[in-house]
Amino acid sequence: MAEYDYDVLVIGAGPGGYVAAIRAAQLGLKTACAESRETLGGTCLNVGCIPSKAMLHASELFDHAANGTMAKLGIKVTPELDLDTMHGQRRDAVKQLTGGIEFLFKKNKVTWLKGKAAFKDAHSVDVAGQTVTAKNIVIATGSSVTPLPGVEIDQTVIVDSTGALELAKVPNHMVVIGGGVIGLELGSVWRRLGAKVTCVEFLDQILPGFDGEIRKEANKIFKKQGIEFKLSTKVTGIVNNGDSATLTLEPAQGGEATTLDADVVLVSIGRRPNTDGLNLEAAGLSTNQRGQIEIDHDFRTKADGVWAIGDVVPGPMLAHKAEDEGIAVAENIAGQTGIVNHDIIPSVVYTWPEIAGVGLTEEQAKEKGEVKVGKFPMMANSRAKTNHEPDGFVKVISDAKTDRVLGAWVIAVPGGTMIAQIAQAMEFGATSEDIAYTCHAHPTHSEAIKEAAMAVQGKPIHI
Ligand code: FAD
Ligand code: NAI
Repeated sequence: MAEYDYDVLVIGAGPGGYVAAIRAAQLGLKTACAESRETLGGTCLNVGCIPSKAMLHASELFDHAANGTMAKLGIKVTPELDLDTMHGQRRDAVKQLTGGIEFLFKKNKVTWLKGKAAFKDAHSVDVAGQTVTAKNIVIATGSSVTPLPGVEIDQTVIVDSTGALELAKVPNHMVVIGGGVIGLELGSVWRRLGAKVTCVEFLDQILPGFDGEIRKEANKIFKKQGIEFKLSTKVTGIVNNGDSATLTLEPAQGGEATTLDADVVLVSIGRRPNTDGLNLEAAGLSTNQRGQIEIDHDFRTKADGVWAIGDVVPGPMLAHKAEDEGIAVAENIAGQTGIVNHDIIPSVVYTWPEIAGVGLTEEQAKEKGEVKVGKFPMMANSRAKTNHEPDGFVKVISDAKTDRVLGAWVIAVPGGTMIAQIAQAMEFGATSEDIAYTCHAHPTHSEAIKEAAMAVQGKPIHI
């Protein structure tokens, strides 16, 4: 009889966990995955990446029809919002994709253990009253919304991202707390559908972690689209009036308080790792000050046989980072060499235009040494200009001595797709000259990347 029920037990079926489970099974390991949700796919497929993109896409088309963008192309339409159908297509996308993971589990013979898992020791967990043992356990429990102290989310007036995806009607005034990725994406959705949107951000600029110039340009673009910003401002209290809310605001550095009324308040001030109820202590584990599980380069925790990946470990909380870690951890468990290059993880904000970056910001690069920077405006890119998409620019940062690309930042309608080529170039150790001398198809938005790389050499053609 085998010593353990499974070779690998993954806790959590988000993009980290389900990918780890599938790859482990593909590598011939007997694998199970415990998931407490009704459906597989984690935050990303159920209440994150996928439903938010479904609402972003639909609201973008509505906005193009409503704000005259289509009329400029000779298409005159007066759109009528059918929010129920819009929500229906969102739910359909989620259903199809979460069902797809269930199909993949069956195809790869991954056993889905339905229920919440808690450690009994480093090689056994309790799932819905049953003890399951495994030689290797991968913690992939993800993250949840960070609450604002003293503020209760009722998902009607005061909502988190999950509630903000499902609003039954367009609010008159939505106040977004936090000018990060969720605030800007979901704020954009409801702005496009007709809400007045005010974003309250504690810092003096939106999108922390992004390149400084990109943050400023993004702020300008969102203002032009009608989002109002209150930067360097903190929310000190919210009164829920039942069908509206009154927020008390103060300057971040202290000062006179003001009030702001809203129909809906979206709390989007970050996310925190899920470890409650896991009984980590039984496996000999604890969390760091940020609530994360510490790991080494191979995703091993300090308990032998226990590994961790995704939002529950340090690093950016992104689905593609979790997925790549899922593949790598399974390969490491199977005795192969699974590696994720954490220096090259792209980040994308799926607004219109998209905002994307990979590698170092100009500020970070300058701290490390001398750099060369090349920029190219989308206004001078023939495809963007023809499509009436003039906002944004591309910026390529390279090492002044070696010309090796250190980072790139893009604001462009297909910025999320464009950033992949820079990530790949950086993985191959490319110089800006390599990109400048790579033939790019014309007319494409990606030519702006080539031109920005040519600008690093001081020789762009179209500006
Ligand atoms: P999760 O996806 O959070 O999955 C963890 C799973 O573990 C959950 O299903 C949970 O139910 C389960 N679980 C937890 N504890 C237990 C337990 N004890 N027993 C059993 N099961 C358990 N990222 C992007 O890259 N691109 C995007 O466009 C994007 N959009 C987003 C939009 C929103 C609104 C939100 C909220 C997030 C978005 N993200 C996006 C972030 C992305 O969703 C996360 O980075 C990603 O889901 C993390 O994957 P994970 O596998 O680590 O965890
Ligand atoms: P975030 O960390 O991106 O932004 C939170 C913002 O809130 C920051 O700008 C912060 O300064 C501000 N803030 C914090 N406390 C505040 C306060 N009390 N008052 C006012 N402002 C305050 O977090 P967000 O937007 O909640 O997203 C959570 C995670 O989900 C992110 O880490 C992100 O990686 C991931 N995500 C990724 C997406 C993507 O890749 N497109 C989309 C949505 C989420």
